[in-house]
Amino acid sequence: MKVVVVATASDGTIDHADLTAKIEQHRDALSCIMITYPSTHGVYDADVREVCDAIHAAGGQVYIDGANLNALVGLAQPGLFGGDVSHLNLHKTFCIPHGGGGPGVGPVAARAHLAPFMPGNAADPANGESGTPISASRYGSAGVLPISWAYVKLMGGQGLTEATKSALLAANYIASRLNDFFPVLYTGEGDSWPTSASWTCASSRPRPASPPRTSPSA
Ligand SMILES: Cc1ncc(COP(=O)(O)O)c(C=O)c1O
Repeated sequence: MKVVVVATASDGTIDHADLTAKIEQHRDALSCIMITYPSTHGVYDADVREVCDAIHAAGGQVYIDGANLNALVGLAQPGLFGGDVSHLNLHKTFCIPHGGGGPGVGPVAARAHLAPFMPGNAADPANGESGTPISASRYGSAGVLPISWAYVKLMGGQGLTEATKSALLAANYIASRLNDFFPVLYTGEGDSWPTSASWTCASSRPRPASPPRTSPSA
């Protein structure tokens, strides 16, 4: 397969004109699109559904990169964007230590039509698990999974949602504090700084344009 990069618009979202052109150019061979959501620049593309629809209309599939799921948990569902398959990095969102070379482990979620193509356990075909194994051992590095389990159980749904909001607020705070020293490429459309009291989930682009400067103690 060949990777084709779709351009980024000036606000950090997916450039629709370029996407349309690339779809037309590669329609006969189009396999899928991979979308990191929100993007690594922190942009929530409010038109992501149209992007998914356009790919599906051209016969392609949509992979939602779950690496930034800690900015979505409790607030949005990748499956509702139009994604067909997504992975969750437990070490990025669900408390697994991030470093030391692993172990990396996490679920890959797919829509039902992709089930026959999911990796299985070649060692146990009698159990209906045939195909290419995703890891050498049956459940991968299963020893770390109780960490995520305990984290989810301790936090609960509301706690996880609060953690997401807190992470968004903290990321915006750091971006604001470092803005004079490091360029922040995309700042969204807001004109006021969200506080923990005023934050709502309705903002599709949470990074404000002109955050006020405050002292760390404020
Ligand atoms: C956007 C994005 N996708 C995927 C990955 C891969 O994550 P990992 O190899 O740690 O599971 C990263 C890692 O930083 C990432 O930033």
